[in-house]
Amino acid sequence: MISTLVSLLSLGAFQFTLALPTAPSAGCTRELLQAHTDTYIAAQTAGDPSALLAIASPNLIYTEDFVARNLSKGVLTTPLHINHNRSILDTTQCATYTELIITSATTPRVIGTQLRFSPGSGAQLLQAESLVTQPGDWGFNATGALYYASREDGLWTPIPTPDQDSRQVIQAAADAYLDLFNDPTVKVPWGTPCDRLEGSFYTGNFSATDSCNVGVPSGVNIFNRKYVIDEVLGTVDCLVTFGTRPDSHEFRVEKGKIRFVHTLTVMRNVTAY
Ligand SMILES: *[C@@H]1O[C@H](CO)[C@@H](O)[C@H](O)[C@H]1NC(C)=O
Ligand SMILES: *[C@@H]1O[C@H](CO)[C@@H](O)[C@H](O)[C@H]1NC(C)=O
Ligand SMILES: *[C@@H]1O[C@H](CO)[C@@H](O)[C@H](O)[C@H]1NC(C)=O
Ligand SMILES: *[C@@H]1O[C@H](CO)[C@@H](O)[C@H](O)[C@H]1NC(C)=O
Ligand SMILES: *[C@@H]1O[C@H](CO)[C@@H](O)[C@H](O)[C@H]1NC(C)=O
Repeated sequence: MISTLVSLLSLGAFQFTLALPTAPSAGCTRELLQAHTDTYIAAQTAGDPSALLAIASPNLIYTEDFVARNLSKGVLTTPLHINHNRSILDTTQCATYTELIITSATTPRVIGTQLRFSPGSGAQLLQAESLVTQPGDWGFNATGALYYASREDGLWTPIPTPDQDSRQVIQAAADAYLDLFNDPTVKVPWGTPCDRLEGSFYTGNFSATDSCNVGVPSGVNIFNRKYVIDEVLGTVDCLVTFGTRPDSHEFRVEKGKIRFVHTLTVMRNVTAY
């Protein structure tokens, strides 16, 4: 790119008409992605998607529970008081994942949302996919989810740079876990302690020996995996088809080993979209 500009400039033709940028473009930074998740959370709180629509591509792909919807008519039009939120930021793909817990008596929800922005600049929202779990979904109890997720506050913190895993290592840990459901011979890099929050079910008791290796259903193919990976937080979210269900599996990985798993499973079959 620079050499192309230099060679163009050396031709002389553009010397007086080509203004070189004074600073590199901001690109897809953590700051930008954080601002986007703030916009998303504010939109859900207000029940007003207009700030997201303002940055959305005209060709925005929006789904709820893997069903194509109009963003202007979906869950973002319902004001929801958010009791807990946690986001991960993927500057490589220019994407984010946010977990929202809403304990409202009338509209309790636990929502997981992947947002994908234009590569490089991050200026435009290209795709938004939400799983909106509610009473009747797998293990749903927003009060319980809030209790456990809040107890983990302070444990999903930034990992010091020398200890950060590569994207490949983080994804491989998630893939091993997801593969286990269809192949009991897979070696999963279990960490200790490790806890799984599935809906509102929690596998541990906050002891140093908590283990995630407490069994998974067998014969479940987990496919259509869509990843958001944050090396700083050592976390990957996978939106997947879990057998037949829309599902999110989010993993905190430390030094290659799984420490926390959060899952959302919508009790409805995936339909094509
Ligand atoms: C989405 O809904 C809004 C509000 O009703 C409407 O203006 C817009 O045309 C719809 N978009 C699509 C793609 O149907
Ligand atoms: C989201 O969580 C952060 C702490 O992680 C908190 O400071 C912020 O107020 C929360 N936002 C909302 C809308 O609750
Ligand atoms: C949800 O969990 C809370 C806290 O564990 C419990 O008090 C409540 O009874 C549960 N609600 C339902 C509907 O099971
Ligand atoms: C936590 O659970 C383990 C089994 O996973 C059990 O051995 C231990 O006694 C429990 N600890 C407490 C404090 O309940
Ligand atoms: C969902 O899919 C399963 C397996 O294909 C099927 O047995 C079940 O009837 C379906 N349920 C609904 C609600 O469509």
